[in-house]
Amino acid sequence: MSEVQRGEVLFEMKNIEKIFSHVHALDHVNFDVRKGEVHALLGENGAGKSTLIKILTGVYPKDGGQIFMEGKEVEINDRDDALALGIAVIFQELSLIPSLTVYQNIMLGKEEGKFGFVNARKEKKDIQDLIDRYGFPVTADATVETLSVAQKQMVEILKALSTNARIMIMDEPTASLSQRESEILYKIINQLRDQGVSIIYISHRLEEVFNLSDRITVLRDGKNAGEVEKEDIVPSEIVKMMIGKELSESTASRSLHESDTEVELEVKNLSRLGYYEDVSFKVHKGEVLVLTGLVGAGRTEVLRSIYGADPYDSGEIIFEGKVIKPRISDAVAKGFGLIPEDRRTQGFSPLLTVTRNVATTNYDKLAHGGFVNKKDEDELGKKAVEIVDLRPANPNVVVGNLSGGNQQKAVLGKWLTRDLKVILIDEPTVGIDIGAKDEIYEFVEDLAKQGVAVILVSSDIAEVLRVAHRIIVMREGKIIKEFKDGVATQEDILLASSGFTGDEKEVAHE
Ligand SMILES: Nc1ncnc2c1ncn2[C@@H]1O[C@H](COP(=O)(O)OP(=O)(O)OP(=O)(O)O)[C@@H](O)[C@H]1O
Ligand SMILES: [Mg+2]
Repeated sequence: MSEVQRGEVLFEMKNIEKIFSHVHALDHVNFDVRKGEVHALLGENGAGKSTLIKILTGVYPKDGGQIFMEGKEVEINDRDDALALGIAVIFQELSLIPSLTVYQNIMLGKEEGKFGFVNARKEKKDIQDLIDRYGFPVTADATVETLSVAQKQMVEILKALSTNARIMIMDEPTASLSQRESEILYKIINQLRDQGVSIIYISHRLEEVFNLSDRITVLRDGKNAGEVEKEDIVPSEIVKMMIGKELSESTASRSLHESDTEVELEVKNLSRLGYYEDVSFKVHKGEVLVLTGLVGAGRTEVLRSIYGADPYDSGEIIFEGKVIKPRISDAVAKGFGLIPEDRRTQGFSPLLTVTRNVATTNYDKLAHGGFVNKKDEDELGKKAVEIVDLRPANPNVVVGNLSGGNQQKAVLGKWLTRDLKVILIDEPTVGIDIGAKDEIYEFVEDLAKQGVAVILVSSDIAEVLRVAHRIIVMREGKIIKEFKDGVATQEDILLASSGFTGDEKEVAHE
């Protein structure tokens, strides 16, 4: 790269304005990035982070302001303009073609550019060299569909590197990565920075943001709320900047106990070949049972079988004392709710309003003799918005136009307005900001207080300790430890998730 000094400002966004029909999404926002820095963009759900990025990458036109690249004003009208300036977005995986190899996918990115002719052999070697230089755990010849989410992300990074990207944008890159995979990504980010690449990093996982960032810019309600250099990062101060108030202390340990109320749901020796094996547990009325462990431990699959969304091969599911064969078609009527992990694809209809989304899930309650009263529907929509503190607090917005975190809150709202007996919740706060998280934990507690049996899957240890009455750790499809009665600490859970169960007699095999 040129003789530009590291630390020099590479690009600058000045007084950026963006107004959607009712929302002033960006209000005179300033943001600049230096060469070779990791610059985090923080803010609550709906603060304007993704909108700012979309303007920088030519997805949305700006309504005001200027963008400068190395001091010169530039216009970014589409993705090609952004690419030509060396700005690349690291998508999670969506832009890759599964049936092609790593090398072919990377070339595809290039062929879109101005290269008429390519020397395939040389290109392939160049790509393998690039992989070796960074020590990525992938090969140029691997077929993309055989790769993990983390590896696919690396292919995206390679794609960007091969187009000489100088600025890489990562929006929630670790949301679906395991701890170990995240650590590999952190290493790569540090390497990229050392090579002079600038990274714009968006994440709701504050700990990683504090560890990685050279600088943090905080947005609040579409405005700049602060900018902090690495050496001045004080976590509590940053949280205050984000939410405009102080937050109560988080939990480092939790005292647990098994509830003595009636058992609402029991799972006995449940197995599904290739997914999970011999899983047994009970959940009492009004109890929050957390299934934790690493990504891929089989927890989601257990939830889906209980709901009837996926089959199981052997074992029993017992609901209110009777063996049931769960079917998705009558799960709702029985009082079961499932809030899926991948809310983006499974949780809502993007083209419908919040109210319509809530109404579709609650049709059984709303319909009287086949008719739905518009007033009842509106009321339920309003209730959902209140329960999850949706922003904007408008039940008539189309869900697809909400910010990522607020889309997730809308899905939660659909279920939290129901009369439930058993709720299955999968990773409820991925992508949700720290203030809203707290509110969601309060709903979970409220549901439990109302007598609902809650089974919650979470990989976020602070979250586990915040909500659990009892904790089951799964690993590679099996229950390897149960924490009940007594105090569990972050360390206990992390160790168990990694396969260190300590006293083997405590392993749950009831
Ligand atoms: N296409 C759109 N049409 C209407 N409003 C929009 C659109 N895109 C974003 N908004 C609104 O602009 C505001 C900022 O949203 P943005 O997606 O930038 O937030 P974010 O900071 O990325 O939040 P999150 O952490 O939840 O992803 C929100 O109020 C959102 O509802
Ligand atoms: Mg966003």
